Parts: sequence; C-alpha cells; structure tokens
Amino acid sequence: MKAQHILSQFRATGIQTCLHDRHIDPQILAGLNGSNWRLKDYEARGGYQALRKVLGIGGGEAMTQDQVIATVKESALRGRGGAGFPTGLKWSFMPRQFPGQKYLVCNSDEGEPGTCKDRDIMEFNPHIVIEGMAIAAYAMGISVGYNYIHGEIFSTYERFEEALDEARAAGLLGNNILGSSFTFQLHAAHGFGAYICGEETALLESLEGKKGQPRFKPPFPASFGLYGKPTTINNTETFAAVPWILRNGGQAYLECGKPNNGGTKIYSVSGDVELPGNFEVPMGTPFAKVLELAGGVRKGRKLKAVIPGGSSSPILPASIMMACTMDYDSIAKAGSMLGSGAVIVLDDSRCMVKSLQRLSYFYMHESCGQCTPCREGTGWLSRVVDRIENGHGQATDLDLLDSVAEDIQGRTICALGDAAAMPVRAMIKHFRNEFEYHVQHKTCMAAAYD
Ligand SMILES: Cc1cc2nc3c(=O)[nH]c(=O)nc-3n(C[C@H](O)[C@H](O)[C@H](O)COP(=O)(O)O)c2cc1C
Ligand code: SF4
Repeated sequence: MKAQHILSQFRATGIQTCLHDRHIDPQILAGLNGSNWRLKDYEARGGYQALRKVLGIGGGEAMTQDQVIATVKESALRGRGGAGFPTGLKWSFMPRQFPGQKYLVCNSDEGEPGTCKDRDIMEFNPHIVIEGMAIAAYAMGISVGYNYIHGEIFSTYERFEEALDEARAAGLLGNNILGSSFTFQLHAAHGFGAYICGEETALLESLEGKKGQPRFKPPFPASFGLYGKPTTINNTETFAAVPWILRNGGQAYLECGKPNNGGTKIYSVSGDVELPGNFEVPMGTPFAKVLELAGGVRKGRKLKAVIPGGSSSPILPASIMMACTMDYDSIAKAGSMLGSGAVIVLDDSRCMVKSLQRLSYFYMHESCGQCTPCREGTGWLSRVVDRIENGHGQATDLDLLDSVAEDIQGRTICALGDAAAMPVRAMIKHFRNEFEYHVQHKTCMAAAYD
C-alpha cells in the first residue's frame, strides 16, 4: 500500500486528512471536494470493489458471513457513535437463523453538540455509507435497512436519496445485487430533530413513528429491535469504515491505528481554534497534532481546556490533553471519553461556569422526562449552575451539584443522564476555584482576562 495523499484541504471549513505519517491510503473523507460524490467518482476511487469482493463478483469465491465478520473483528473497528463498542462483536450478536425479518439501521442522527462529521460523510461520500451498509447486511443476513438522518439537515438527506437512486439503478441495491442471490433494500428516513432520537432505542421508536423515548435494555436491539425484530444499529462513520476494511483486510486497518483502536477517526474540531472543521487522522495521533491541523488555538490565546468527545464527555484541562493521543484508551485513561470525536476547544478567555451553564441547560432541555433522576436532576443542575453564574450562588452549591450529579449517574434508563452528570462533576473537579470565585465575588474570574 502506498500513501497517496498529504494533508489536502477540501473546503473552507477545513475537511482534511492527515494520513501521511503512516503508510496508509486515505479512507473516508480523502480526495473529496463536494463535487465528486457521485457513483462514477466513487467507483473511480475503488468504490464498491469491497462489495464485489464479498459477493464473489468478477473472480474469486464469495466470502462467507463468518469471514466478513471475522475480518471486521480483526480490524479492531470500534463504533464511532460514542460508546466505542467493537463492531465485529456487535455483528456477531445477530441471530443467523432467525426465520422472520431482520433490520439494519444507520444512526445518522448526529445531535451531540460539537459533532458534525456524519453529515459531511453523507454529503461528500454517500456511497461509502451505502456500500458499508450493504456489506454489513450481507454479513448478518439482513434484507432491509434504514438510514435515520438528522431531521434538520435537508440537503444531506436529499444528497443521500440521490445516491440511493444511483445505487439502485446500477444494481448495487435491491433484489439480486449485481446478479447474486443477495438482496438488500435500503431507505432513508427523516429524523425528528431531538438529541434523544440518537439514542439507539429512542431512534427505533422514532423510526416506528412513535415518540422518541429510549426503551429499557435488555432486551437489546439484536433480539428486540425495529418492530420487535432483531436489529443492528451502527453509526454512519462506522459503516463508512467497512469498505476499506474488506478491500484491504482487517490487519491492515488495525495497523492504521493502534492495538484495540483500529483505523482512522474523524474529529470535528470546534470552539476556539483558527480553522474549525473535520479532520481524519489515524487513531493514536497526538492531540497536539489534531490541534495543529485546526490551525491551533485562536491568535493571542492559550489553551485552557478541551471537551474531547462531544458535550457528554468530561472536560480535561490543557496540561492533561496535551499529553494525550486521540484514541479510546488514551482518553479514557485521562478520565474522559473519545465519544463521537467532537473536540471542543476552550481558550483562556472562557469562563467555566458560563460554559457549564450552557451545557446544563442543553441536557435539561433534551431530557425526555421518562425517568425521575434525569428529568428532575437535569433541572436541578441547570438551575444551580444558573444561579452561580448569575451571582446568587451559595457556598454549599458546589457540593449540591456534585451530589445531584452523583444521584443521576448510573440510575437512568439511557446514557443521557450520565451525559448530563459527568461534565458537571469534571468541571468542578478541574476548575473548582472558578466556581468558588463566582460564589464569593458574584462575578467571573475570566472577565478579568478580556
Ligand atoms: C442521548 C444519546 C444520543 C446519542 N446520539 C447518537 C447519534 O447521534 N449518533 C450515533 O451514532 N450514536 C448516538 N448515540 C449512541 C447510540 O445509542 C448507539 O450506541 C450507536 O448508534 C451505536 O453505533 P456504533 O456502535 O457504530 O457506535 C447516542 C446515545 C445517547 C445516550
Ligand atoms: S435518562 Fe433522561 S433521556 Fe434517558 S430515558 Fe431517562 S429521562 Fe429520558
């Protein structure tokens, strides 16, 4: 394999790949400029070769379902939707001999503050998602799939629909794909615009036309999913990684990243940087390199802290982040989560109380209200942070915040409760002095910097 690509910029907002320091081919966003998303362009880049290989079209034996799943397991691909669950293992949970309908669902809801990678994948490279889903469907013996696309991004939805039409017309989707016995019908579905609809079981409810509220687990979707049938749900970026893996082998993908963290990852870098955007780099890339790709911290400012994996991941101070590499294990060891890969950069002008006020309001607003600790607790968190920010805080408020957050964590139906609680505890742990200053002086420490 030969590296073809050195740091190219795809559009003003900064879609870049930086794969030149490892000898690997670019993968998901590489070589794209907004006008080369069509089927012919994708095929010119080697698109649908992996599907052909899997189906045994154009020479060679078709791969067995077990072989496809084993390849994905070997690659150490971990789900890019947030939890980092091993994809091959998830696929192996699907019952093979189930007599009725099974479903495949792509989670393109992407409502986590800071995350904006999936919409770019679907706009710039929609066929890579379609091909990845078709391969996944083949591996799990699934004949119907849906891509649930965030409700407010109409242009992305339309782009994906156009790509579906192209794939159907070329015999790459539908009955007897490419003349084989494999059939896969794939449809796009509009999301309903709520953050909670990205939680996999709320998404299934929403896809069924109901209110998007999470289900109790177990049963997990692999046994009771869409319409009560076995269902596998993966994130858009997870599916987009699959064609490369099948074309080049699981070991090659693993070697792109680091052990237990295979391949490349797209980071959506936002906040106080010069060039916010999406950046695809190998797993295990130093955080400092990702920051450099995003143009570094705003001119004249210093790095203060980073939320490394979307708004639900605990904040880390600059000193810890600068020592981290960007992969699931390194960020977990540092006390946070890689999550969806949304890197929110805060410089030294930022007030942590104000930042937490914004975050806590978001979680209160997005709680679906089903379980008491989340419904009531997110309201408490938001109101207490609000009063500290507005100069009405009390000395006992910091312990109160910590204890409310502790009471939410681990006691809810879905992980939104944890997502609301963990950032609060991390903010207080790392920036307690700022909260105390607010309570004592009724004003902000950071105000003095501007
Ligand atoms: C509140 C909440 C919102 C979520 N939003 C998304 C989302 O927008 N996209 C996504 O892929 N996963 C989201 N997830 C994670 C999904 O529940 C699920 O784990 C994921 O889609 C599985 O795909 P993966 O294994 O490929 O990561 C969310 C989880 C929670 C608790
Ligand atoms: S944790 Fe919150 S969002 Fe999740 S089910 Fe309970 S109330 Fe709804």
